[in-house]
Amino acid sequence: MKLVIGNQKSYMNKADVESFINETKDNIFNRENVIICPSDIYISSYIDNNYRTGGQNVSLKMNGPTTGEVSAQQLKSVGVTYCVVGHSERRKDNSETDIDTNIKIKNLLAEQLIPILCVGESREERENGLCLEVISREINTAFKDLSSDQAGQIIVAYEPVWAISDGINPASIPTNEEIKEIVLQIKDYVMNNNQVEVKVLYGGSVNDKNIDELNLIIELDGYLIGGASKNAKEFNYIINSTK
Ligand code: PGA
Repeated sequence: MKLVIGNQKSYMNKADVESFINETKDNIFNRENVIICPSDIYISSYIDNNYRTGGQNVSLKMNGPTTGEVSAQQLKSVGVTYCVVGHSERRKDNSETDIDTNIKIKNLLAEQLIPILCVGESREERENGLCLEVISREINTAFKDLSSDQAGQIIVAYEPVWAISDGINPASIPTNEEIKEIVLQIKDYVMNNNQVEVKVLYGGSVNDKNIDELNLIIELDGYLIGGASKNAKEFNYIINSTK
């Protein structure tokens, strides 16, 4: 069954979260494949309503004097089970590097949390034929010094930076063939380097209009969904159509 992971970014205030929960909780109840990554301040609201949750980011350090950060231990202590690392918005806005993703992944694995590693090329890199080169570099450093067992716990999200929406208008997205090709390349790359199979998701402007078409890609293990995960009706539609 494909995973449906909602990355709610910083879109919602408390009232939005409450109505989202009211409108999705019956549908999401008992669905092991649906995970919500809210802002940290709302994680407990989701957990109290039996949602599976993920963080959107984790501290480079473990517990201690790191003002404004949330550690892997803290995420675990409230019942979080997943965490996004290396999202392109954090790479761009917070100068997160490939080395950082490696440290964060190790911190998460030490607490038995499942990392969701975002990788993907910019439009310029794609136009210059650098897609695979960029993705392999991102994976190679993020997976550095991990055992096969550890590597196998990581979920990779292929998120071409140019396909990520601005929260209002969806961007153009790759064709199913293009997504399938990259997904298989990522799986092969990790198999060759780490001797293990990884799950690969697609992210970037997934919505209720394109989900049925995307669901035809059998090689894909699921989705990381931004803008469309803040809208209960749209998210319910996506969950219901994804098997
Ligand atoms: P989007 O975001 O679905 O709004 O394009 C995806 C993501 O950034 O994870």
